[in-house]
Amino acid sequence: MATIQMRVRPEDLSQVPKSQERIPEPMILVIFGASGDLTRRKLLPALFHLRQANLLPERFAIVGVARRPLGPTFAQDMRAGIIESGGVEANDAKLDEFVSHISYFQLNFDDPSSYAGLKAELERIDKERNIGGNRLFYLATASEFFAGIVENLGAQGMAQAEHGVAEVLIEKPFGHDLDSARELDRRVNAVFPENQVYRIDHYLGKETVQNLLVFRFANGIFEPVWNRNYIDHVQITVAETLGIEGRGPFYEKAGALRDVMQNHMMELLAMICLEPPSSFEAESLRREKHKVWRAIHPIPVQDAVCGQYGPGIMGGEHVVGYRDEERVNPQSTAETYAALRLEIENWRWAGVPFYLRTGKRLKKRATEISIEFKQPPLLIFNRMATGNHCQEIQPNLLKIRIQPDEGIALRFGAKVPTSPSMAVCPVTMDFDYETAFGKSSANGYERLLLDAMLGDQTLFLHRDGVEITWALFMPILQAWAENKPDLFPNYFAGSWGPDSADRLLERDGRAWRNDLGR
Ligand code: BG6
Repeated sequence: MATIQMRVRPEDLSQVPKSQERIPEPMILVIFGASGDLTRRKLLPALFHLRQANLLPERFAIVGVARRPLGPTFAQDMRAGIIESGGVEANDAKLDEFVSHISYFQLNFDDPSSYAGLKAELERIDKERNIGGNRLFYLATASEFFAGIVENLGAQGMAQAEHGVAEVLIEKPFGHDLDSARELDRRVNAVFPENQVYRIDHYLGKETVQNLLVFRFANGIFEPVWNRNYIDHVQITVAETLGIEGRGPFYEKAGALRDVMQNHMMELLAMICLEPPSSFEAESLRREKHKVWRAIHPIPVQDAVCGQYGPGIMGGEHVVGYRDEERVNPQSTAETYAALRLEIENWRWAGVPFYLRTGKRLKKRATEISIEFKQPPLLIFNRMATGNHCQEIQPNLLKIRIQPDEGIALRFGAKVPTSPSMAVCPVTMDFDYETAFGKSSANGYERLLLDAMLGDQTLFLHRDGVEITWALFMPILQAWAENKPDLFPNYFAGSWGPDSADRLLERDGRAWRNDLGR
């Protein structure tokens, strides 16, 4: 298929006004669960990039909190993590300056008595660095500790800053099901009111996810066709080649539906389907997202399928099946793949099927949204076709690549040159982020951390949104818990998932698009 590249003209780029970046007020960022992978691989590199871009306040401190006795080695380990994340030399003076803001405090999350010590330590740092009372508590621990930590912070009076602000930022999962999510919200909100709570879904920090709003609402040509009159169906795929990466105990409880579908994929769906918000402020955007989720027709249990990978070959290497992964039950029924069909019953989308799938150990890593448009009347081309058979003209297709190869491609038909019979060939206009703007090192967390420090909740979840999406999936989760619809394992590592997922689309005369990426 022919491809037309699209580029940004340097003169256009130079005319983009530099945004007036706001710098947060002086602040102590307290990371609970700081000895975990997330802090080292994502959070600290993101904070360092913010520092390099002069987006952190001059007076700030990062305090890692965890159970292990790490002491000063913590800051050095974070330094190594930043270097490993790339883009910085070990002898960079800026790195040393940044690391001088990091310290560690050892604490047992569920031991109330140790929180007084934490409070005293934060007050000491505050005085030393003249912070002025602002605190952002980042909960990156296992989810069972969230509520207890929040309550202990509350008991020590750390949820209401005497001067400045106190905010809590919570990593997913927000509960295990609807009831536990409600209970967590209740306990968190008993200490921190909703306007001090930041529930993070890192997908919302991705540039390409935010670009969905720009693509839809800053361009005049797409919105008129963005509805049931022109769109045939939509597919959303979050395919991973990785397995569970040593996270057995977590994944055994979560599974693909809870881990990715209920949160990241619902965000992608909302961004594609929402009505134009009146502004990009938290309240306005969240209201539109909630309207989309509320309009989803209850998903029949038979419209959802699950799978679990067995052994297979990936990149020429043999990989083990899920049940043979570390710390996984050899008879596990956790799903590593989930797919479903849903419909949104509102004026824009009624009758348009949405097919969503996510899985581990699939053939290719790709997060992509593909929007297939309805065919126009094609009779004239078929009459012109050579021979006895009609030519198959492919429908217009818009592919939005969230990652990797971030970009957007539009497929349309073009006349094959010199063909006397009006032969039509699909061609693609392709906008590629990296070619157009150069490589971005942002990992999503930069934007989200900065927004939280600035007190902007737009890209964070409200408790209502979390509860609406849980409610949507409860019947499926309950049905799967009682009776796994397939015999596991039911797909090979390195394949595109179980056959039952193909049948879900075959019923509608469609197939998954497996030509993902560029
Ligand atoms: C996380 C899930 O939230 O998202 C992981 O817990 C998953 O299982 C990850 O791999 C996917 O994120 P990304 O940014 O790599 O697409």
